[in-house]
Amino acid sequence: MDSRIMIFTGKGGVGKSSVAAAHALRSSEQGKKTLLVSTDMAHNLGDIFEIRLGKEIENIHPCLDLYEIDPQYVMENDFEQIMKYMGSLLNQTGVLEPQDIGMLPGMEELFSLLRIAELQKSGTYERIIVDCAPTGETLSLLKFPELLSWYMEKLFPIGKVGVRVLAPVSRSLFKIEMPNRHAMNDIEKMYLKLMELEELLKDRDITSVRIVTAPEKMVVEETKRNYMYMNLYDFNVDGLYINRILPHDIGNDFFDEWISIQQKYINELNDTFAALPIYQIPWYEEELKGEENVRRITRDVLTDDDVFKTRLITQRERFEQTDNGYSLTVNIPGADKKDIDMYQVSADIVIKTGNFKRNIPLPNILRNYTVSGARLEDGVLRIIFKKGAEDDDK
Ligand SMILES: Nc1ncnc2c1ncn2[C@@H]1O[C@H](COP(=O)(O)OP(=O)(O)O)[C@@H](O)[C@H]1O
Ligand SMILES: [Mg+2]
Repeated sequence: MDSRIMIFTGKGGVGKSSVAAAHALRSSEQGKKTLLVSTDMAHNLGDIFEIRLGKEIENIHPCLDLYEIDPQYVMENDFEQIMKYMGSLLNQTGVLEPQDIGMLPGMEELFSLLRIAELQKSGTYERIIVDCAPTGETLSLLKFPELLSWYMEKLFPIGKVGVRVLAPVSRSLFKIEMPNRHAMNDIEKMYLKLMELEELLKDRDITSVRIVTAPEKMVVEETKRNYMYMNLYDFNVDGLYINRILPHDIGNDFFDEWISIQQKYINELNDTFAALPIYQIPWYEEELKGEENVRRITRDVLTDDDVFKTRLITQRERFEQTDNGYSLTVNIPGADKKDIDMYQVSADIVIKTGNFKRNIPLPNILRNYTVSGARLEDGVLRIIFKKGAEDDDK
């Protein structure tokens, strides 16, 4: 059985680590071999569990391991082969040396993902729960494999490996398409590694993203954007946690107003995220330090049997054949038409919204096609392609 990957994200301080830890405890109580791993450079699993963690995986309960990833350490100790590929890659740029890897933004974090992928593949764990850094960093982390493989396609002759097929690239299909590894050069192997990583993170049967939020204006606004961007990059978000909800029986006038303000935002979150399972977490009277305190979330909130199940909230992004061409479908929930910019640059579709820009390479079949129209409906963008030159009326 494939192990499951659950990625927790959200604004700084909302309670990501606490909620992720509560899941890890629940999972291990169920007798499932679980890894709670943090990719946040400001690790605090050790603080939460009140133990000192080193650079390797630490076993704390029969079914629970903790791991604060140090990407630099992982890079040097676990990925000799990849470092070799990356070395070749950098050498070929003509300006960078292999030891410059750590200097490239996003590169170190890539090794956290590679390590998680490796642990997933090893089958040691039934569940891997990932406690991430705040939203912006999580997004850069998750989109990095795709971004790097995109650069590689532009910079190097990827040749036989660079066959983009019509998505969804199912795992089996993927395997058939790929040429013999021995016949590949380092750069092609690195590229393939990135494609596999991307595939793992987007595989809706294995990986999902869970967003932690709080009933406050700023947090709610950023949660909506986070959800939109995660989808734009084709990740499946399949759960929302509203944390720090004031209990209704405080009996103090001062809090009455706060309780009603919170209720307003809880209602808004319930409306906006009606498609997702939503978990509500009370604001406890003390910090969630120590396992027993974190277990309060486990006991009070994570009671349903399906809490670890993957749920298909959005379909994968896909190219499909239509009557007279092809279409590409991308999820951008909550997006407004006027905030989206979409255009084609040679063999890429570019979608821009806010500070984000995503380049989607067209599969080889579509190299002679151009965009003939696009439509955004209920958060789903459908782009239509026709053979030949661009239409005049577009
Ligand atoms: N529901 C809650 N009730 C009380 N304290 C909480 C709750 N959720 C989180 N905290 C506390 O808030 C602080 C930030 O939580 P943490 O899980 O570290 O957030 P993040 O990982 O998102 O930065 C911690 O001190 C934690 O104990
Ligand atoms: Mg944290």
